[in-house]
Amino acid sequence: MLVDLAAVDRVKLAPEGGGTIRALSRIGYDLPEALADLIDNSIDANARRVEITFLRNDTQITSVLIADDGGGMNADGLKLGMQFAGRIDHEADDLGTFGLGLKSASFSQCETLTVVSRRGGETVAARWSVEEIDKGWTCEILDPRGAAVAFTENCLRGKAPATGTLVVWDRLTRLGVGGGDDDLDTFLSTTLARLETHLGLVFHRFLEAEALTISVIVRHEKRALALPRTVRARNPFGYPCSGLKGYPKTFSADLPGVGMIDLEAHVWPSGLQADGFLLGSRAGGPFQGFYFYRNNRLIQAGGWNGVVRNDQDSDLTEARVAVELPTDRIAVNVQKSGLQVTAGQAQAFLQATSEGLSFGDYLDAARAAHLAARRAQRGPSSPPLTPGAGLPSGVRKAAVKRLAKDGPHEELDFVWGPLPADQVFDLDLTETRVILNRDHRRTILGEAPASGADAPLIKMLLFLLFRADFERLRFSAKRREQLEICNALLLDSLKK
Ligand SMILES: Nc1ncnc2c1ncn2[C@@H]1O[C@H](COP(=O)(O)OP(=O)(O)OP(=O)(O)O)[C@@H](O)[C@H]1O
Ligand SMILES: [Mg+2]
Repeated sequence: MLVDLAAVDRVKLAPEGGGTIRALSRIGYDLPEALADLIDNSIDANARRVEITFLRNDTQITSVLIADDGGGMNADGLKLGMQFAGRIDHEADDLGTFGLGLKSASFSQCETLTVVSRRGGETVAARWSVEEIDKGWTCEILDPRGAAVAFTENCLRGKAPATGTLVVWDRLTRLGVGGGDDDLDTFLSTTLARLETHLGLVFHRFLEAEALTISVIVRHEKRALALPRTVRARNPFGYPCSGLKGYPKTFSADLPGVGMIDLEAHVWPSGLQADGFLLGSRAGGPFQGFYFYRNNRLIQAGGWNGVVRNDQDSDLTEARVAVELPTDRIAVNVQKSGLQVTAGQAQAFLQATSEGLSFGDYLDAARAAHLAARRAQRGPSSPPLTPGAGLPSGVRKAAVKRLAKDGPHEELDFVWGPLPADQVFDLDLTETRVILNRDHRRTILGEAPASGADAPLIKMLLFLLFRADFERLRFSAKRREQLEICNALLLDSLKK
């Protein structure tokens, strides 16, 4: 609007160092993402081995070292590499884009970043610290002889490579654990498990192709022995046979501002507790949705980016869609952990087609496969249903006796929840529960107080009315109509 207003002076306003670092450290990297960003650089430098070492003493982690056997950098390359948002010419198949990852990832975790690199028989080193940045963006160039010794001693311990790079994080800001030995051990075991899952997932294509080995080591400052753990590939599409005939299917979407893009729609076999499905969680549920890859590196693991409203739709637990992103034509966030999809692009995803099928058809098919698998799991000989949570425990116990002869049974739960105004109840076949509209709770309860086991008579009646639907796990069109009538009749009776 004011682009035509005349300029009367020009002042150079360089960013203020301390503030820039504080802002960068808040960019939202977690430790696995920050390390993945450094591994991107190793891959771009054609490394075949990456070794991450956590140096510890008795109570805390003191440094993190990331070493690789890639092409390394000479003095000029290192200077450019250390520069924030340095102008680097990247190949189309590089993982690097912004000229920022090394610095932003490091300063999300530490206050001193040292890089030692060897190329063409020369070893060079440089260091950024928050203080020097604050003083005026001065990067320290370090003594090459000392750097050569440090490189030989610390880069891929056991055998320093002819070329490669060693990144060291000192004065860690996020990896602090208070207390004693036990705290650190607990912290390390959970942190390392998360780290291995994340790296195994993000780089699974490189690991499976044996183009790269990543190992993680915890080394005590005073002890020499440390056993490396090798990161295993976790392929989010690594199932033995498809959960639905005819899938995976490739859908084509015409994304505004991007062009044609392929969506490879998969359905995992139901109930398979495989590593690639669970991805470190217990249920695998959170990982439905899109898997965006850029140059074989996984950018986003799951989530529907607004294409499906609920990212954890229990009927879509097995639905995963692999998408290869065209480099440079779609925005990835700085920490390369997610994709920015506009509303228009989300619509275009939904309009994707494959041999006359729409993406919506795929979602419906995945939902139907999920319910069919649940039905098959229940089978004709499944245990009887009994009323569960939401009813008084005495009533529940008596029902187990009467309906299941105190033997095995499955419970149908009752919850008050948000529902459209014209519904008094809804049947949730997947979660085996009846949802009651909380807006009608007061009217239904009358004078009685609300509690976790309120309105037992209504709930028991609904149980008797609908248990067969839950046992069949399906509604016919006719039955659906009857349920709508039930809802309408109940609503009439509530209005008085
Ligand atoms: N391990 C490494 N081996 C060789 N060169 C490296 C290594 N790490 C960094 N570099 C050099 O430093 C440059 C800057 O790295 P940095 O991660 O900051 O930015 P980038 O990789 O260019 O882009 P992005 O911000 O997308 O990661 C790289 O482009 C590369 O030239
Ligand atoms: Mg990078």
